[in-house]
Amino acid sequence: MSEVSAEQQAREDAIVNTVLASFDGCENPRLLELMRGVVTHLHSFLRDVRLTEEEWSAAVAFLTAVGHMTDDRRQEFILLSDTLGASMQTIAINNEARGDATEATVFGPFFVEGSPEIGSGGDIALGAAGEPCWVVGTVRDTEGRPLAGARLEVWEADDDGFYDVQYGDERTAARGHLFTEADGSYRFWAITPTPYPIPHDGPVGQMLDATGRSPMRAAHLHFLVKQAGYRTLVTHIFVRGDQLLSSDAVFGVKDSLVRDFDRQPAGTPTPDGRVVDGTWSTTTFDIVLAPEQP
Ligand code: BEZ
Ligand code: FE
Repeated sequence: MSEVSAEQQAREDAIVNTVLASFDGCENPRLLELMRGVVTHLHSFLRDVRLTEEEWSAAVAFLTAVGHMTDDRRQEFILLSDTLGASMQTIAINNEARGDATEATVFGPFFVEGSPEIGSGGDIALGAAGEPCWVVGTVRDTEGRPLAGARLEVWEADDDGFYDVQYGDERTAARGHLFTEADGSYRFWAITPTPYPIPHDGPVGQMLDATGRSPMRAAHLHFLVKQAGYRTLVTHIFVRGDQLLSSDAVFGVKDSLVRDFDRQPAGTPTPDGRVVDGTWSTTTFDIVLAPEQP
C-alpha cells in the first residue's frame, strides 16, 4: 500500500470492519466465509492500488459491457474468468493431483451435448476441413487397470479456426463420442489441431488488446472422459512445438498434456487402411482417471 497517514488508515480500516460486521447475522457458514473473503480481498485491492473514482467508473462500465455481451449463446463472464486465469485456478483447486491421474484443463464454450457416436476407429471430422489425424490411447485407473466402456467426448476447431457451432448453420462437425474397448483402448480419426483465437469482439477482447495480450489459444483437441466411480476428466491435448504453448490466452496448457503429433508424408499407409489424399498425423494420449472418492 502506498503511504497513507495513520488517520487515513484508521478511516479505511473502519469501512472494511463495518462491512465485514454486516454479515455477522449470516446463518450459512460457507456463504459467510465467501462474503468475508471477497470483502477482505476486494478492499485490500482497492486500497493497495489506491483506486481512483474514474477507474472505479471505468470498471463498472467494463462489467456492464460484459453483462450486455452475455446471452444464452455467448458467455462473456466465463471468458473474463478464463482470461484472468480464474477458471484454471478453480479447476486446479477442484482436481487435486491424485497419483498419475491426467491433468484437467479449461472446458471452453464449444462443447455440445448430443454429439454423434462415431464408434471405435470412426472419424469425428464429419466434413470439417483439416489434415487427418489418427488418435490412439488407453483409459486406465491410477492402479494401471484398463477401464472398459469409458465414454470419450472429443471436439475441436476446424482448420479455419472455427467450431461447428460458430457457423450458425446447424452443421455438426469435428465432434463426436466413442467408448473404450475391453482392454481400455480407443482409436479414432480427428483433424490435426490448429491455433485459433477465443471470441475477441467484445469487452474481453478490448481488455486483451489494451494490455498487449493475444486472443490466440494454443492448438488443442478437447476430451471429456466419463466412467462411473471415477472423477470426470475435462482436458485437452496440445501440439508439441506449437509457438503458442507459452502464451495460451486462457492459461490452459500443462506440460503433461503436450503430445507429439507425428506428421506422415503423403502416401504413408494408414493404420486402418483408410486412403488419405496428402499428409496425415498421428498422436497417442494415454488417459488416467482418478477415483471419484480419494
Ligand atoms: C476453447 O478451447 O475453445 C476455449 C476455451 C476458453 C475460452 C474460449 C475458448
Ligand atoms: Fe477449444
